[in-house]
Order: sequence, then C-alpha cells, then structure tokens
Amino acid sequence: MILDAAASILRLFPAESAHRATIWLTEALGGLLPAAAPSDPRLAIRVLGRDFANPIGLAAGFDKDARVPDPMLKIGFGFVECGTITPRRQAGNAQPRLFRLAEDRAVINRMGFNNDGMDAAVARLGARRRGGIVGINIGANKDSNDRVADYRTALARLALVADYVAVNVSSPNTPGLRGLQDRDELERLLAALTQMRNRLGLSVPILVKIAPDLDGHALDDIADVATKSGIEGLIVSNTTIARPSTLRSPNAAEAGGLSGAPLFEPSTEILHAMHARTGAKLVLVGVGGVASGADAYAKIRAGASLVQLYTALAYRGPGLVTRLQRELVECLARDGFTHVGDAVGAAHRS
Ligand SMILES: Cc1cc2nc3c(=O)[nH]c(=O)nc-3n(C[C@H](O)[C@H](O)[C@H](O)COP(=O)(O)O)c2cc1C
Repeated sequence: MILDAAASILRLFPAESAHRATIWLTEALGGLLPAAAPSDPRLAIRVLGRDFANPIGLAAGFDKDARVPDPMLKIGFGFVECGTITPRRQAGNAQPRLFRLAEDRAVINRMGFNNDGMDAAVARLGARRRGGIVGINIGANKDSNDRVADYRTALARLALVADYVAVNVSSPNTPGLRGLQDRDELERLLAALTQMRNRLGLSVPILVKIAPDLDGHALDDIADVATKSGIEGLIVSNTTIARPSTLRSPNAAEAGGLSGAPLFEPSTEILHAMHARTGAKLVLVGVGGVASGADAYAKIRAGASLVQLYTALAYRGPGLVTRLQRELVECLARDGFTHVGDAVGAAHRS
C-alpha cells in the first residue's frame, strides 16, 4: 500500500522530523487518502453515550494540535484523541526529545506538551464538519502556578468541540504533574472539573489518564476517588519511566516516557488491576504496546471497552489500523463472541 511505503521512507529521517512531515502531509493530502472499508459490525460498541464503529482509537500525542482527526478517522480508527492541549501555547522541551528504539519496537519521548494552545485547537475543531468521535486530551502549562485552574480552563474551552475530555495527569515530562494522581490532589482536581461541567450544563464525558508506574495502594486510591467523583472513565496507561532490562536499543537510557512493545505487559496488568477495582462503574480505555489484533483483544479481555495505540503506527504504517481490526474479529470469532462488547472483562470471568 502506498501509504505504508511512504511511512517506511519517513522512518529514515530523525523521529521528530518524520512525525512533523507525517502531520504536514496528512493535513495537506488528507482529503485524497483512500477511506477504509466500514468496520465489521461485530466491532461496534456503545460506550460513553457514543456509538463507536470499532473500539480501536488513536492515542494522544500523535495529533497534539488537532490538525488531522478526520484523515485518521478515514484510515479506519474508531476514534481519535487529540492533544495534550494546554491553555496557552508552549514550545515543549529542548530537542532532541523523541527517540526511536527500533530493536525494541519502542519509543522514548520527552516532548513536554509542545502545542499551539487551546484557542488554536478550538478554531481547528470548530471548523470541521462533526462526524466521527474525537476526544481531547488536556493538560496544564509547565509554568502554571495553578494547575487545577489550567485543567478547568481547558475543559471549559474545549468541551464544546470534544466527544470526551481526557485529563492527563500522567505525563512524565512535565515536572510534578504526576503528583496530581495522589488521592487528595486527584480528589480536588476531579471535584473542580465535575463542578465546572455542571456549571456549564455540559454532559461531556471525562476520563482520567493514568501512569503505568503505580503500586497497588495508588491504584486503590485512584479507583476510589474516580468512582466517587462522577467521572466516566480511566485511560490506562500513559508511557512508563521504567526501563525494562530487556531493552536492547542504544537509546534505552534516554530520559522520558517509554512506549511501544515493552509497555504492553505492565500497562495491561494495571488495566486488569483497575478493572478488578472498578468493575462496571467506569469505562476503561486500554493503551500501551498494542500492535496486533491479539494485543487489542488482550486489553479488551482485561477490561477495556476501548483500545488506543500510537507507537505501533509509527513502525508499521497506517495499514495497521484495518489489519488490527481484521485480526480482532478473528480473535472474537475463535472464542465464540458475537460482539466485541461481550468480550470486555472476559479474563475476569474465566
Ligand atoms: C511521541 C509521543 C508523544 C506522546 N504525547 C502524549 C501526550 O501529549 N499526551 C498523552 O496523554 N499521551 C501522550 N503520549 C502517550 C500515548 O498516548 C500512549 O499513552 C503511549 O504512547 C502508550 O501507547 P503506545 O505504546 O501504543 O504508544 C505520547 C506518546 C508518544 C510516543
């Protein structure tokens, strides 16, 4: 496929230049991209008050500035999460800040929320014809002296152009940000956000994106706070600051968050643990190292109603999206599930 060939050529360039070129080309030529065939009806799922044609979404960080949600939906994603978007534009960390670990099918990034700010995103998203599910991932500016206020501001401004809002408290690349996952901080943040949502009379679903580097006690706290707060779901997980001893790439010691294949097991374990703690009370989105239909299926069995990916797309190209759906349908058929929703949490029942 010509798109996969173009992706292979881009992989010859430094990682961030290749990514910038990908966004630029997709934005310029998106209208010409061939549309994926409609998803298999067995993959349709209704969650968060929305009908998803399939449960495979594009994770945050690929389209930080909401430039290409529609082309990404067109190549077959069931939903796209734009961001992380902060209230004010910021440059992010010094380059280089994005590293391929090709031998490990992984990436390390320390981008640091480089983005154009919420006003630019609202202008872009407001101009698109709605259709297809687009979530927006929000964060605080690095130099903010009131992080809760930043999230509140971003929610209020972006909720009207979002099908859901993801609250990113788990990026390892903004110092101190992950402290917002602590019980008291999280309670305060989620109370502020749900109050703001009520005050504006909005019903946009709110999901919190958590780190994979949390112990059982922290998971207990998050599960408890999240279920009591009135939010709708959790995204499990962001990149990890851990460095498994199995990494072979010379870039393995770079600082930042590790994503891709080595993240699959730890993030799926945390997802499984979260489902055990929250049951049907929260919608779980499984993300981390998904590169095949079997990987997506494992996340779904562990408790995910929706799945996201990013790193595998960079290595395998856009053809991955429909391939993964085909493989997922095969997994469901093999195990006698007529519908993807029936497999959610199946690992907890067997
Ligand atoms: C280059 C890069 C940038 C990312 N930026 C963000 C971000 O801005 N906000 C966020 O919530 N997650 C971000 N992520 C994390 C991904 O959304 C995802 O949680 C993580 O990469 C694990 O999925 P994967 O293994 O399929 O890539 C980023 C990941 C990468 C590789």
